[in-house]
Amino acid sequence: MFGSIAARYDLANHLLSCGIDFYWRRCAADIVAGWQSKKIVDLATGTGDLALALQEKLPDAEIVGVDFLPEMLELAKRKGMRQTVVADAMKLPFAAASFDCATIAFGLRNMEDWGGALREMARVLSANGHLLVLEFSLPTMPILRAIYRFYLHRCVPFLGSFLTGKKSAYDYLGDSIEEFPSGNRMSLLMAANGFARATVQPLTGGIVTVYTASVAAACDRRTN
Ligand SMILES: C[S@@+](CC[C@H](N)C(=O)[O-])C[C@H]1O[C@@H](n2cnc3c(N)ncnc32)[C@H](O)[C@@H]1O
Repeated sequence: MFGSIAARYDLANHLLSCGIDFYWRRCAADIVAGWQSKKIVDLATGTGDLALALQEKLPDAEIVGVDFLPEMLELAKRKGMRQTVVADAMKLPFAAASFDCATIAFGLRNMEDWGGALREMARVLSANGHLLVLEFSLPTMPILRAIYRFYLHRCVPFLGSFLTGKKSAYDYLGDSIEEFPSGNRMSLLMAANGFARATVQPLTGGIVTVYTASVAAACDRRTN
C-alpha cells in the first residue's frame, strides 16, 4: 500500500496535516536531542522526515533509517539521509544492544504485531536505551474528537484519493487510528514489551501523541 503512494506520500502528508507534521517531527527531534544519543535507528523511516529532523539536531550522531520498501528509502536518500537499510522492523538485521535510541513515527500502528515490534526495538537497544514513538491518536475532548473524526473519515479519504489516486490507503489510515491503542493503553503496551518509565505527551489537541520510554532493566534479551 505504501509502495503505491510513495511518490506522492510527502505531498499528501503535508497537505492533509496543513503542514503541522513538520512541527510534530520537530517536537520529537527536540526530545531525542535532549538525550544526546550517539547511535539512533529510525524505524519505518519512509521518506525520512523524522530521521532528517534528527540529523539536523544531532549532526554528529549516527542515524540509520530502516524501512522495508526500497522506493521509500530511495526518496529519503534523495532528501539527504545518510544511512538507510532495507529491512522488516519485526526482524531487524542488527545485533542486540546495537543502538542507544530507537525512534518510530507513524509506523508502529502499521506493524502486524505491535508488541512484537516493541520487543524487537528493546532487543536492539542498549541497557537504558531510549525509545520515542510518534503516532496518531484521537483527541480526548468530545467536541474536538467529533470534528477530527469527521475530517479523518470523510475528508481525508476524499483528499487522499485526489492526491494519490489511492482512496483505500486513506480509508485504512482512519480505521487504523481508531484501532491503535493510545494514551495509557500505549504505556501499558510498552511496559508489557520490554520498556519502563513511559511518558505520554499529546500534541495538537491529541491528534498525535509522543510516547517515550527506556529499556526496562530486567528486559529479556536475545543475542544474535
Ligand atoms: C506512514 S509511513 C511513516 C513514514 C515516516 N516515518 C514518516 O514519519 O513520515 C509508514 C512506513 O512504515 C513502513 N513499514 C510498515 N511496516 C513496516 C515493517 N514491518 N518494517 C519496516 N517498515 C515498515 C512503510 O513502508 C512506510 O514507509
